[in-house]
Amino acid sequence: MSAAVCHQWAGIDGLQIEQLHIPLPQEDEVLVEIKATGLNTTDLLLISGRHQTNRDLALPYVPGIEGSGIVIQCGAKVTQLKPGDRVTGSFPKGALADKAITKANHLFRVPDNIGFIEAAALPVSYFSAHLALHWNGRLESGETLLVLGSSGGIGLSAVQIGKAMGLNVIAGASNDTKLEFVKDKGADRTINYRTEHLKNRVMSLTDGKGVDACFDPIGGDLSLTALSCLDWGGRMLHLGFVGGIQQLPANRLLVKNRASIGCSARYFRLHQPNKYRESAEWILERVARGEILPSIGHCFSMADCKLAFEKLAAGAVLGKVVVTP
Ligand SMILES: NC(=O)c1ccc[n+]([C@@H]2O[C@H](COP(=O)([O-])OP(=O)(O)OC[C@H]3O[C@@H](n4cnc5c(N)ncnc54)[C@H](OP(=O)(O)O)[C@@H]3O)[C@@H](O)[C@H]2O)c1
Repeated sequence: MSAAVCHQWAGIDGLQIEQLHIPLPQEDEVLVEIKATGLNTTDLLLISGRHQTNRDLALPYVPGIEGSGIVIQCGAKVTQLKPGDRVTGSFPKGALADKAITKANHLFRVPDNIGFIEAAALPVSYFSAHLALHWNGRLESGETLLVLGSSGGIGLSAVQIGKAMGLNVIAGASNDTKLEFVKDKGADRTINYRTEHLKNRVMSLTDGKGVDACFDPIGGDLSLTALSCLDWGGRMLHLGFVGGIQQLPANRLLVKNRASIGCSARYFRLHQPNKYRESAEWILERVARGEILPSIGHCFSMADCKLAFEKLAAGAVLGKVVVTP
């Protein structure tokens, strides 16, 4: 089988396409013929040796933590899937290949009217965003949500899911092209947080109240400013730290009974699989009904996977980057 392989944690330059042996699924695993792979900032961090899970990973390493395709072979204890099923899901690694293995309970059947490319874009961004908004943030219809990094993979998912949940969505991004894009995808209001004062603009959009929750995949100083945008009882949902890891002043939580909540999809996959499944099925149903349209910014072939990573690293991607074998 063909796969992108890293022999060192050397980033994009260290990637090469190689022929590998086809792996055999263990009793609770499934071998999938990959039709499309979603790329994520997490993959960039992983291949560069900069992700928090790198210390548990061995070289050579095949990247790819989400993908869609067709079930080829199931382990002895797998009952919920069978060869021929169309699936999407998360992979511990290895989905940037034409075949890959994952746990059966990390895969979900894909309705026939969802294409493989759209399906590959769902697990890391859309499933994770729903987990954070629904289970961590406990957001309810009518509440107001501020999304930082709203044109990126997980930020855009939060905008679209927020609208499908009946929230008022204020989308923040660093330039007007990105903001036009997210407005087109359903954001109610937008903020250019490079040129506008984030707190002042949020307060003017919310009659001085602030928002009920902030979806934050960025961290750093922007996150500290966003903390002041939370209303009484507001929830700060921490998804990632591409802008740096901030130290939170706990007094600013106390004064308005706010909460700071870590949101890890991995936690739900490993420790709350029923909630993970519920979120995945919620997303797949709405995508199948056309209520959420996964936004694919760029699609590359496997031979061009370095270009795909470079596009992602340039930070100019609108929506998801997907690679097909
Ligand atoms: N917790 C979870 O379950 C989970 C799931 C998926 C992803 N994540 C994390 O969420 C973060 C974002 O992932 P993503 O796939 O959405 O990435 P992405 O598509 O690259 O989007 C990230 C956004 O962050 C902003 N940004 C600010 N500083 C940046 C920097 N130094 N480098 C890159 N982008 C920067 C950019 O928006 P502006 O220019 O508009 O600010 C960009 O659009 C990553 O840390 C990822 O690991 C967490």
